[in-house]
Amino acid sequence: MPQRNLSWFLPGAGLLVLILILLSSSAGWTTEDDYMAGYTGADADLTGSDTCVMCHRDYVPESLFSHQAYIDNDTGSEYYGFGCEGCHGPGGNHMGDPEGIINPPMLDAEGITDLCSKCHSNLRTYDLQEWNLSEHYMLDDSCLGCHGGHSDYDDFLTYESSEELCYTCHMEKRAEFNMRSHHPLDEGIVGCDSCHNPHSGVYDGQLVADSDELCFSCHADKEGPFIYDHPAATAGDGCTTCHFAHGSNTDSLLVLPHRLCLQCHTDKEPSIHHPGTCWSSGCHVDVHGSNTHPLFFD
Ligand code: HEC
Ligand code: HEC
Ligand code: HEC
Ligand code: HEC
Ligand code: HEC
Ligand code: HEC
Ligand code: HEC
Ligand code: HEC
Ligand code: HEC
Repeated sequence: MPQRNLSWFLPGAGLLVLILILLSSSAGWTTEDDYMAGYTGADADLTGSDTCVMCHRDYVPESLFSHQAYIDNDTGSEYYGFGCEGCHGPGGNHMGDPEGIINPPMLDAEGITDLCSKCHSNLRTYDLQEWNLSEHYMLDDSCLGCHGGHSDYDDFLTYESSEELCYTCHMEKRAEFNMRSHHPLDEGIVGCDSCHNPHSGVYDGQLVADSDELCFSCHADKEGPFIYDHPAATAGDGCTTCHFAHGSNTDSLLVLPHRLCLQCHTDKEPSIHHPGTCWSSGCHVDVHGSNTHPLFFD
């Protein structure tokens, strides 16, 4: 029986080599030395992925769409060594000695970021500078809190879906998205990543856009301009003074059921003569702004 080895992936890798070469200018890899510089044991020789899988048979990539298969392991190529050793460093001193090889989870957050950033600092939407501003960067397990080096899930996540992944650490969010009023996340219409970028801290709360701009991207009708503005809703950072972003046990994701308006209009006593609220009693119905009435009547 022929031995399974990585050369099975070479035809597919051909196209990917091309892609890698195209990507290489933006990722800043030029030579093998350049690429390997900084790895522990960088003085060791490269052995090639085929050698690794002689002992680590369980780690032969099972599909062309696995991380290892994406990474060129053609020993004839200028990028030789980018296979297993692209993440584990040169294996020449290893041959079974755990000291002689990089085991990524043993690195600190900074080390893991450096390791993955060798290839990913400019790859598509991920940006190292934005990452360094994020709360997630503060995590000790860093990229590996969400991605596995050998995962088969989409985006090489550690969980089957991105939402399930987020819930593993943000457990209370599952309850929020089950409240009476909620953004339709479990319904599959929006995802955590509709509003958050797990890799970027450019905007507060790792949001994908600044403050109300985020909400306007889907609720454009609330942006105005209105002839009669309600500064609470149009001043630029107002949506979350009245609405929760995830879920609420009050209708319309409201933060307060009755005293919502009294947060600011302290001079208006809640009237015992009007059933309901300032808006649901039929008065100030266009609370986000109106083109017909200065008091936001319909
Ligand atoms: C994209 C980076 C990457 C590539 C490429 C890669 N690995 Fe890994 N490897 C990891 C990470 C990260 C872990 C830690 C476990 C995890 O996240 O899956 C790991 C874990 C391992 C382990 C287990 C270590 C332990 O704790 O026992 C072995 C063995 C291993 N890899 C071998 C290989 C071999 C062989 C190849 C080539 C076929 C390879 N790896 C390619 C990133 C990578
Ligand atoms: C001659 C057999 C052999 C070869 C070749 C080999 N390994 Fe290993 N590797 C081992 C053994 C044995 C261990 C120790 C397993 C243990 O401690 O449970 C190990 C451990 C590891 C670990 C875990 C290290 C740790 O800190 O626990 C990683 C990662 C790894 N190997 C990756 C590789 C990579 C990548 C290559 C190719 C460059 C490679 N190995 C080549 C036999 C080998
Ligand atoms: C909090 C979880 C989380 C952390 C931490 C994380 N990622 Fe991701 N990553 C994701 C999710 C979810 C996706 C799927 C697409 C998306 O939502 O952006 C993704 C997608 C990617 C992609 C695919 C390309 C893209 O941007 O769409 C790359 C590359 C990537 N991550 C690399 C990294 C690296 C490198 C690190 C560490 C510096 C890292 N990620 C840290 C969750 C995370
Ligand atoms: C040796 C270069 C290299 C290293 C190091 C590397 N990757 Fe990758 N990674 C790639 C290539 C090539 C692809 C596939 C091309 C693409 O998706 O644009 C990829 C794809 C990905 C994707 C996207 C998968 C998808 O479905 O879109 C994620 C997520 C990712 N890598 C995370 C990581 C993490 C986390 C690390 C650090 C443990 C890491 N990578 C280290 C080269 C690398
Ligand atoms: C490995 C654990 C872990 C995973 C998985 C994880 N997070 Fe986090 N996240 C944290 C920690 C720890 C913090 C900082 C403390 C906090 O705010 O809860 C944080 C903070 C955040 C913040 C607040 C940022 C700020 O500036 O206040 C957002 C938003 C966030 N995560 C979104 C996500 C999303 C979306 C996902 C899924 C793609 C995700 N997280 C997956 C651990 C994780
Ligand atoms: C409709 C947009 C939207 C969706 C979808 C969304 N978020 Fe948020 N999230 C926000 C906004 C806006 C904030 C900031 C809230 C504030 O400033 O009051 C926030 C804040 C957070 C925070 C930090 C503050 C807190 O409430 O703990 C975390 C963590 C978080 N979100 C995680 C998640 C996770 C995990 C998911 C998916 C399960 C998710 N978010 C889905 C808009 C969203
Ligand atoms: C990615 C698109 C998207 C973003 C961004 C977004 N929403 Fe939504 N929002 C929706 C969808 C979809 C619904 C459900 C609409 C429906 O049921 O008709 C919704 C519903 C709502 C509702 C009504 C909920 C109910 O129970 O009736 C409110 C209030 C709301 N969003 C406020 C906000 C606020 C505030 C923000 C900014 C923090 C925001 N949305 C950001 C897509 C989005
Ligand atoms: C002063 C409090 C207040 C502010 C600020 C506010 N809202 Fe509302 N919003 C409400 C109330 C009250 C309702 C319920 C109206 C109803 O039931 O007729 C509502 C309902 C909604 C709805 C669902 C019904 C509809 O009209 O589509 C959406 C979506 C919404 N708001 C988005 C936003 C966005 C986006 C912002 C930021 C620009 C915002 N809101 C700012 C009070 C507010
Ligand atoms: C975050 C603070 C804030 C909240 C909460 C708020 N408002 Fe306002 N509202 C204002 C400001 C500021 C003005 C402009 C006042 C001015 O020009 O004197 C205003 C003006 C108004 C006006 C126009 C008449 C006037 O006094 O100028 C009406 C009507 C109104 N708000 C109704 C509501 C209703 C109904 C709610 C609850 C759904 C509400 N407001 C919640 C801040 C707020």
